[in-house]
Amino acid sequence: MKEVKPITTQIIAHRGASGVAPENTLAAFRRAVQEGADGIEFDVHLTKDGEIVICHDETVDRTSNGMGYIYQLTLEELKRLDFGSWFSPEYEGEKILTLGEFFEQFAEYDFLINIEIKNSPIFYDGIEQKIWEQLQIYGLQEKVLVSSFYHRSLQILSQIAPSISLGVLCGCGPLEPWSMISGFQARSLNPNRFFVDRELIEQCHQMGYQVFTWTVNNKAEIKQMIEWQVDGIITNYPALARSIRDEL
Ligand code: G3P
Ligand code: CA
Repeated sequence: MKEVKPITTQIIAHRGASGVAPENTLAAFRRAVQEGADGIEFDVHLTKDGEIVICHDETVDRTSNGMGYIYQLTLEELKRLDFGSWFSPEYEGEKILTLGEFFEQFAEYDFLINIEIKNSPIFYDGIEQKIWEQLQIYGLQEKVLVSSFYHRSLQILSQIAPSISLGVLCGCGPLEPWSMISGFQARSLNPNRFFVDRELIEQCHQMGYQVFTWTVNNKAEIKQMIEWQVDGIITNYPALARSIRDEL
């Protein structure tokens, strides 16, 4: 009988180690590396002058000392803001990063880079092509998983770069997430943890998709997801997830 190889669940730091450092900053990404994450997830937007920057929300209001939509601010204006103090005074002065700056820091690391394209509710025309150009500059075409809730972006990327790894984000049902894929080849389904169970994972695997679920922060849930052989847990606490995986 053919031996079934157990899956080692990858631990992906959600917006970096965002439970212990300000999300989507260099501090959070460095911390994720220190904590032994197998990958880093982060979110990207386009500035007024067409630069790709890393931030979760479409405005800077929640995570900086500034205000406004990213698409209405230039990179220079964004760079003047402090993206650390809202989290803790210890992180005062953290700057927004461009995608290129992230790659300069982390291209050499042997881990998965999960770029989430935030292309809704603000639509960033041409962001997919710009991401692809950056990946080529840094030779990272094989090392990334590009995901989005806005599946049209994934479709566009697959036309630009047919071999790129794509992750289909699903925030709520349907219970058959693969039914959401149309017109492109995906590597993974990235569902909200609320509707992940063993059966769904097995079904995805049978259909040839990996499963990366988010945001799994609770000890018992992390353990359960690993036991169910999910391919990746996207978590704010990579060190915790590592320690649980190491114990199993
Ligand atoms: O990529 C998984 C997760 O990050 C999606 O939700 O809102 O944290 O970007 P959100
Ligand atoms: Ca995200």
